[in-house]
Amino acid sequence: MMAKLWICLLLELCSMLDTINGYYMERRSECIYSSRDLSDMVYIDSAIFNKIRYRWFNSTVGKFQGYTQHGIYNAERFNNDTDYMQRERADVDAFCRHNAQIYYTAIIDKTVEPQVEVKSVKQSHGSQPAVLMCSAYSFYPKFIKVTWMRNGKEVEGDQTSTEEMANGDWYYQIHSHLEYMPKSGEQISCVVEHASFKQPMEYKWDPSASAPDKSKIAIGASGLVLGIVLSAAGFIYYKKKASGRILVPT
Ligand SMILES: *[C@@H]1O[C@H](CO)[C@@H](O)[C@H](O)[C@H]1NC(C)=O
Ligand SMILES: *[C@@H]1O[C@H](CO)[C@@H](O)[C@H](O)[C@H]1NC(C)=O
Repeated sequence: MMAKLWICLLLELCSMLDTINGYYMERRSECIYSSRDLSDMVYIDSAIFNKIRYRWFNSTVGKFQGYTQHGIYNAERFNNDTDYMQRERADVDAFCRHNAQIYYTAIIDKTVEPQVEVKSVKQSHGSQPAVLMCSAYSFYPKFIKVTWMRNGKEVEGDQTSTEEMANGDWYYQIHSHLEYMPKSGEQISCVVEHASFKQPMEYKWDPSASAPDKSKIAIGASGLVLGIVLSAAGFIYYKKKASGRILVPT
């Protein structure tokens, strides 16, 4: 019993399934909190049978409450057991705060700064707007806010943001697009807010930085052309040789 309870608490969810009869027994331990100092911690311990919660403990209330006849009887029985109640009430500290503190120090407090890049995706053409993309890479934890500033004012609408995407290695990335009609002399920047920063970080868009992108495309394109020419030459050479060889025996 002790060992099972301990595993339940550790996994925060413990289920026993009787597949033959279709009965489903669940014991759920939840630690609910939002403040970093864990002062608002609430411990909820529920017993659920076939999706119906029949007994639960809420650490703010400090005792068990029952729903069905069985649940009411059980809640009363537990509430009468002073030793058990002492342990149940202690779990808000011993289980919830204890584990939450470990999660904070081992995971949540360990932040990694995003690497941010602002670049042009599409240049403006007549009435077609230009598109900029602000990408934040390799950050942790997941929660991040990316906004755009134009001449010192936050841009509303016109921006689309993809969700934070998991890299699969605990790090995340996000990409935000801004559609806009360029005006000369304006200043555009991408603002990133993240737990790893003490304050929001501003990344200015530098229109002259779009040139290297074009040269990269040019280098890539010439590489492709060269590759096609060389493989075509190689293929023709091979064909000539091959047909030459076949001619000899016939
Ligand atoms: C726990 O009990 C308190 C006090 O009655 C209540 O405000 C709170 O909503 C309960 N928590 C949950 C998760 O039901
Ligand atoms: C709980 O204690 C009260 C008072 O001592 C008693 O009347 C009641 O029968 C007990 N309930 C259970 C389920 O043991």
